[in-house]
Amino acid sequence: MLAVENLKVHFDVKNNRGVKTKLRAVDGVSLHLKKGEAYGIVGESGSGKSTIGKAVLNLAPKTEGKIEIDGRDITMTNRANEAWLRQNAQIVFQDPHSALNPRMTIMRSVAEPIIVHTKTRGHDLRRRVEELLDIVGLSKQFIYRYPHELSGGQKQRVCIARAIALEPSLLILDEPTSALDVSVQSQILEFLASLQRDLNLTYLFISHNLSVVRYLCQRVGVMYLGNIIEEGTTKTVFEHPQHPYTKALLGAIPYPGATQPQSAPPLIGDIPSPVDLPVGCRFHTRCPVKVANLCDRLAPEHHHQTLGWASCHLLDPDLDKVGGKPE
Ligand SMILES: Nc1ncnc2c1ncn2[C@@H]1O[C@H](COP(=O)(O)OP(=O)(O)OP(=O)(O)O)[C@@H](O)[C@H]1O
Ligand code: SF4
Ligand SMILES: [Mg+2]
Repeated sequence: MLAVENLKVHFDVKNNRGVKTKLRAVDGVSLHLKKGEAYGIVGESGSGKSTIGKAVLNLAPKTEGKIEIDGRDITMTNRANEAWLRQNAQIVFQDPHSALNPRMTIMRSVAEPIIVHTKTRGHDLRRRVEELLDIVGLSKQFIYRYPHELSGGQKQRVCIARAIALEPSLLILDEPTSALDVSVQSQILEFLASLQRDLNLTYLFISHNLSVVRYLCQRVGVMYLGNIIEEGTTKTVFEHPQHPYTKALLGAIPYPGATQPQSAPPLIGDIPSPVDLPVGCRFHTRCPVKVANLCDRLAPEHHHQTLGWASCHLLDPDLDKVGGKPE
């Protein structure tokens, strides 16, 4: 359903001395999502998660790479691709409060994409909006209300109704529950899981909340400084993480009912700037188990396991021959 090949998104920015430089937000990411699959992207703030979602929908400029949705190459930004994209893939953002126009009724907000992309009008349009509200669990009495009359959870349901109005096959969900009250988060998550099953949707689910991804996604990719550093089935990544960064992330966040991975050393320091990326393994400045004279020189390759892969020199069966020594 979604194939992303070697995606790079580099922004032109000025460094703190005012010199023009590149910020490598996404730096060589490949993703392959099957139809009906929920794939989660996790990682710390600034790792490039949202930029991937935006680049897939042409809302961020692609520096390099190729993107296909449902077999259609949508890498090129042109009118035909834009129109196709708006009907076949949609994004739901974190903050439902700013995503809805406060001066528009719920009817107008949800009807907008239908009016722009189809000929449905009048009675049929109203019926379709009512049907969409029903799918997201809102009664028709919401139709002439304004956003300020709705709770956060209800607003996010309206945003989801608008996102599925044109029956897209791919839905990108960028932290869809993190702006909501904790009590509402689980309701929206349950609803998203049932929506995916009922409509056979493919989800690219972006979150820094590991338990949310664990609940909703079948596979997960862990991002660090513009790269995916580990990928696998959710069960494998959560129960048998391979990469020291994934181990640290999981070790740092206890989640209920889960088998905790073996004692993971904590993360040291802050994530480096994507303007000034570390040479070698990008994680070496914070890695508690880095290998001297290797990790700060050579970028690790992907090492495949049965149900996933991770990029770390420690997983290289030929590590001894490479000549590194654990510190
Ligand atoms: N339009 C832009 N111009 C310049 N830099 C940008 C732009 N958009 C994003 N960035 C930078 O790219 C990097 C990745 O940002 P992104 O929003 O994708 O991270 P994220 O993983 O979604 O973080 P968060 O969890 O905080 O949402 C950050 O350093 C950010 O400052
Ligand atoms: S390659 Fe080296 S620095 Fe990177 S995660 Fe593995 S051990 Fe740590
Ligand atoms: Mg983000």
